[in-house]
Amino acid sequence: MIFKNVFSLAILTVVAYATTNRSYDGYKVYEVQQQTREQADVLRQLEQSFDDLDFLHLSKQLGSTARVLVPPALQAELEETLSKHGIQFIELIPNVQRSLDENINVGTKKSLNAEEAILSTYLRHSEIDNYLEDLARKHPSQIRVDEVGKSYEGRPIKTITINDKPNNTVIFLDAGIHAREWIAPATALYAINQLAEHSDEHQNILENVTWVILPVVNPDGYEFSHQTDRLWRKTRKPAGHYIGTDGNRNFDFHWGEVGASSSPASEIYRGDGPFSEPETQTVRNVLQRLQGSCKFYLTLHSYGNYLLYPWGWTSDLPNNWRDIDEVAQAGADAIEKATGTYYTVGSSTNVLYAAAGGSDDWALAKSNVSISITMELPGGGSIGFDPPASSIEKSVKESWVGIRAMALKVAQTS
Ligand code: ARG
Ligand code: ZN
Repeated sequence: MIFKNVFSLAILTVVAYATTNRSYDGYKVYEVQQQTREQADVLRQLEQSFDDLDFLHLSKQLGSTARVLVPPALQAELEETLSKHGIQFIELIPNVQRSLDENINVGTKKSLNAEEAILSTYLRHSEIDNYLEDLARKHPSQIRVDEVGKSYEGRPIKTITINDKPNNTVIFLDAGIHAREWIAPATALYAINQLAEHSDEHQNILENVTWVILPVVNPDGYEFSHQTDRLWRKTRKPAGHYIGTDGNRNFDFHWGEVGASSSPASEIYRGDGPFSEPETQTVRNVLQRLQGSCKFYLTLHSYGNYLLYPWGWTSDLPNNWRDIDEVAQAGADAIEKATGTYYTVGSSTNVLYAAAGGSDDWALAKSNVSISITMELPGGGSIGFDPPASSIEKSVKESWVGIRAMALKVAQTS
């Protein structure tokens, strides 16, 4: 019954596309090789100094390839700079708009029950809210939904709390701080579905454990990525002449020191102050409210197959890094055993790049969560952020294997 109104929503979406869609005509995605430390540094420099370059994927591992989205006006200059440094590149996607058009695919929601819809479609924010509310009505003694904040544009930001009991260990899972990473909210929804509707199969991670799940941290950006700009990443609050802050550079711990930009035009804009965004304030408030009982914070992103932990602002490791590593490794091992998919495990500065102001660092440093992990889910589709709706089921089921294994590790050791 929740999906009765889905059809009208789908029609609205189509209309919005036809009238307001931002075009990526002429944009290209380059795949760039980094063979030497100097070349990797050049790429990092480019990210910092060109607001209009969007690094879809970048890691500091030598030998890894980066992917960068480049508007027409910067293509010649970028190619020249890369050549000058002997950096090899190929044009991976010659016309981004064409690739997006071929891939845009939210799935057909007609006459599906809730679980089928979660496995085969990307739900809109209001549909996600309705799903949470329906679960709370269906299981009033086990499940509660709270509005924990409002987005800049006034959308409700809700958590679902499953199995809340005094003295339980709390696991807090969030997703969707970056708007375009659609597979992240989809994965959070599958976790909710499993814990709420299949609790009998998950007793080992529910016994003495309360789950708090916030499936869409940045609903304004999420809706904007559905309606207007598929590759939107940031929040939607204006900043000078531009719009949006990178939520994962906005937390108040070594804010803005590294891997973030002070330019509002940048995709990695840190915001005009720590916690300048209502959405990051909301995550902060939830973590503060759970302080003392929350042992595990897991934040879902895409893409890249990484299980990352603090610190993101320095290459030093937190005192308890061995405990965190053990949990992350349990997740990676479980996934590899189930499907063969490989995840890289390590501190985000050491395996990816330094970037301060992330929610994971703040949770560990400022709200006493001992196990804090960022999960970069697998990519898909043409750009990486657009896995086709037909691949959601396989992806979320695989990721859930890893989430379960990490939760079990935490539950057993607390
Ligand atoms: N891809 C994520 C981002 O750029 C990784 C975050 C890792 N954590 C961190 N604190 N840097 O936001
Ligand atoms: Zn992200």
